[in-house]
Amino acid sequence: MTLSDQERQQLCDTAREVAKLSYSPYSRFRVGAAVLTNKKIYAGTNVENASYGLSLCAERATLAQIIAAGDREVRAIAIACIDGVDKDDISQLTPCGACRQWMAELAPKAEIIICGTQQNYRFNLSDLLPFSFRF
Ligand code: THU
Repeated sequence: MTLSDQERQQLCDTAREVAKLSYSPYSRFRVGAAVLTNKKIYAGTNVENASYGLSLCAERATLAQIIAAGDREVRAIAIACIDGVDKDDISQLTPCGACRQWMAELAPKAEIIICGTQQNYRFNLSDLLPFSFRF
């Protein structure tokens, strides 16, 4: 079922709020994600590491939570970068390739909401990752 604008706004508010808790001392680029399932909203942030390549994005940190909760039906994912140079330049806000591949596996039908300051941008997975790899 499609989301209401109110639900989208609530997800972006949640993503923005949790982004403030981000552990990102190296990039200082705080990202928050909110995942809406049939049951509830999960929230998570990026978690960096002194060994840079081990850093975890907000989207994957949040999607991992649904698995541990036994929750699989993702309706939407909202992503908020609160330290972007231009918060309405979509190319600075969209999820990285690794997160897109995780979404292909765990949230293929989700509405993907990029939270800007002037407006929110909505995508399907196929917009962001056409011909995605699946087993
Ligand atoms: N980051 C995310 O959390 N999600 C993305 O989709 C792109 C990048 C994080 C990783 C790193 O902590 C910081 O943003 C800068 O790349």
